[in-house]
Amino acid sequence: MKLNATRSMGLVLLGGIFVAGCASIPGLGKPDPRWADYKNWTKITEKPSTGNTQGLGGVHMGPEGYRDVYVNETGLAMITGEGPYDFPVGTVIVKEQFKDKAAWESGKGAAHTISLKVADNEGQNSDDWNWALGYTGKVQQTIAKPDCVACHTIANALNQSDYVFSVPAYLEANEAN
Ligand code: HEC
Repeated sequence: MKLNATRSMGLVLLGGIFVAGCASIPGLGKPDPRWADYKNWTKITEKPSTGNTQGLGGVHMGPEGYRDVYVNETGLAMITGEGPYDFPVGTVIVKEQFKDKAAWESGKGAAHTISLKVADNEGQNSDDWNWALGYTGKVQQTIAKPDCVACHTIANALNQSDYVFSVPAYLEANEAN
């Protein structure tokens, strides 16, 4: 535990130096290799989600936004299945969000949020997921603002879907929006 803490502090420090070092050279931040090529994954949203979908509030570009979801091979069968849901370790889900329909049609200016299943403890366990904000964002256990895990707990209340909203029952229920 102590070792781990020391090690991650080292990583945080190194990360800080890296980011600071790149700050003056725009565009050099590299995406994490776990999702760098997400555009080659399966897009599970047949139509983009938009409108005031359940649990959304104002995040993910809000009701005006247009949102697509991509999943890697590891999580594909689970996210497109009927449950019970327990995502395999290594699942990575990328949400691509545009501010409105015109931006979505242009394909430009997407913002990204990413969920990663990093462990598989018994039951639906919030510690099993990590989160990243932005295509070149850093993977974090919690992102307090906006609080990814707190809000994604709603997905468990709706469909018992292991902190993931975009399972078939959710997509169907929100299709008309
Ligand atoms: C206020 C609630 C809320 C917060 C906060 C929130 N999300 Fe979401 N998230 C949602 C909802 C609702 C959906 C699906 C709805 C939609 O896209 O229309 C979603 C979808 C996603 C998806 C697509 C997979 C899935 O679960 O459906 C990812 C990835 C994601 N969010 C990541 C994040 C990350 C990373 C953060 C924190 C930086 C975050 N979210 C914060 C509500 C939230």
